[in-house]
Amino acid sequence: MTLKKSDIIKPEGKLGIVIPGLGAVSTTFIAGVLMIKKGMHKPIGSLTQMGKLRVGRGADAKDINIKDFVQLASIEDLEFGGWDLFEDNVYDSVKHAQVLSNDDIDPIKDELSKIKPWKAVFKKEYVKNLDGKWVKEAPTLWDLAQMVKEDILNFQKEKNLARTVMVWCGSTEIYQEMIPGVHDTLANFEKALKENNPNIAPSMIYCYAAMDLGIPYANGAPNLCNDIPAFWELAKKRQVPMCGKDFKTGQTFMKTLLAPGLKTRVLGMSGWYSTNILGNRDGEVLDDPDSFKSKEVSKLSVLEQILEPDVYPDLYRDFHHKVTINYYPPRGDNKEGWDNVDIFGWLGYPMQIKVNFLCRDSILAAPFVLDLALFLDLAKRAGLYGNQEWLSFYWKSPMHAPDEDPEHDLFIQMMRLKNTLRWLMDEPPVTHLGAETYN
Ligand SMILES: NC(=O)c1ccc[n+]([C@@H]2O[C@H](COP(=O)([O-])OP(=O)(O)OC[C@H]3O[C@@H](n4cnc5c(N)ncnc54)[C@H](O)[C@@H]3O)[C@@H](O)[C@H]2O)c1
Repeated sequence: MTLKKSDIIKPEGKLGIVIPGLGAVSTTFIAGVLMIKKGMHKPIGSLTQMGKLRVGRGADAKDINIKDFVQLASIEDLEFGGWDLFEDNVYDSVKHAQVLSNDDIDPIKDELSKIKPWKAVFKKEYVKNLDGKWVKEAPTLWDLAQMVKEDILNFQKEKNLARTVMVWCGSTEIYQEMIPGVHDTLANFEKALKENNPNIAPSMIYCYAAMDLGIPYANGAPNLCNDIPAFWELAKKRQVPMCGKDFKTGQTFMKTLLAPGLKTRVLGMSGWYSTNILGNRDGEVLDDPDSFKSKEVSKLSVLEQILEPDVYPDLYRDFHHKVTINYYPPRGDNKEGWDNVDIFGWLGYPMQIKVNFLCRDSILAAPFVLDLALFLDLAKRAGLYGNQEWLSFYWKSPMHAPDEDPEHDLFIQMMRLKNTLRWLMDEPPVTHLGAETYN
């Protein structure tokens, strides 16, 4: 594909970010943007707002702010809307999530209170530990999809939006695999919507509604959702960019920092044991084994791909990888992740690494919602569609073409992201090849 900088449509007018799931992550994101707009805080952790990119060589090299290098929508132009099965407005949800202090929330109380969720598309079979009454009812799943579209179209009109992006921040749904006859083609999927097929998850209904309206979609949770051929087809038909899945924020972020480093030193590994305590609503949902299975599959996929035991059998054959999450309410959103890594070095002598990450889940995830919304909007304006593999950096379990492996190494992911931005702006890629430096 050839693309010229001049082909990219300018980010004029307002950008709406519509979010299924107004819980801890999304409300921390919305509140954060409002605070940043008021000058109360800096957008720390957001690559689009704080990140830089090197352009040019030698004496001409410059580090440019990413947001100045590519034309991204300004945070001044953002509007927020969303769905939830609890009727609480965003102010009430922020208070419930207990991520942010009252000193931070009080100055933006009026703006937050005005954002009220639209009724959710929800099926308890898909998130067993939640019960909510703020839920849409309709004879078929197809009708529900039309209702989601109406919510979006009304919002676009009410806020006079130029463009819209959807980011799923809803709870983790139960583990599902692609089912032929339902998820394999767009025609089968649409038929299944009309026939109320039980294998269609609520997240898929939002995703269908958005993409059918030409709205880019990102999946912040590990459930299957847009990772099905029917949606690849829809993305192509409507020329919409999409990506997923499962924000790479805490323990897996650490894993994709450490594992590539250990492999670079050709140190062996016999096991990696990871456990977490988490006390927010996400922790409560993940306490159900079927939802946890979605998370477990997503978290486990990382090491295998980075370490390549088939290529390095002496170092990584039979390494044992275990991940658990324990719901522990006293901790709220302040997750604690422990990792014990059993490695071995010269002559096979064993060593251990212990990592204890006392993180804040939503503080790590909120800037991702902003970055993904802005980058997907850029992708759409640049005419890119289908899975955006250059955004793998954000995902625990990056979606990938069926005949390709996902890329998990954080540093390769970052190089790819930045080089894609350079490519979009007609700048040569930075490959870090020796020849490039010496010439
Ligand atoms: N915080 C992180 O670091 C992190 C990292 C990776 C993935 N995630 C994923 O992001 C998602 C959001 O996390 P969170 O901490 O905000 O969870 P949360 O429980 O605080 O919020 C999720 C919200 O989604 C709502 N919801 C569930 N099903 C819905 C539906 N069908 N339609 C509309 N709303 C629905 C719930 O009522 C809840 O308010 C989870 O799936 C989580 O696993 C979070």
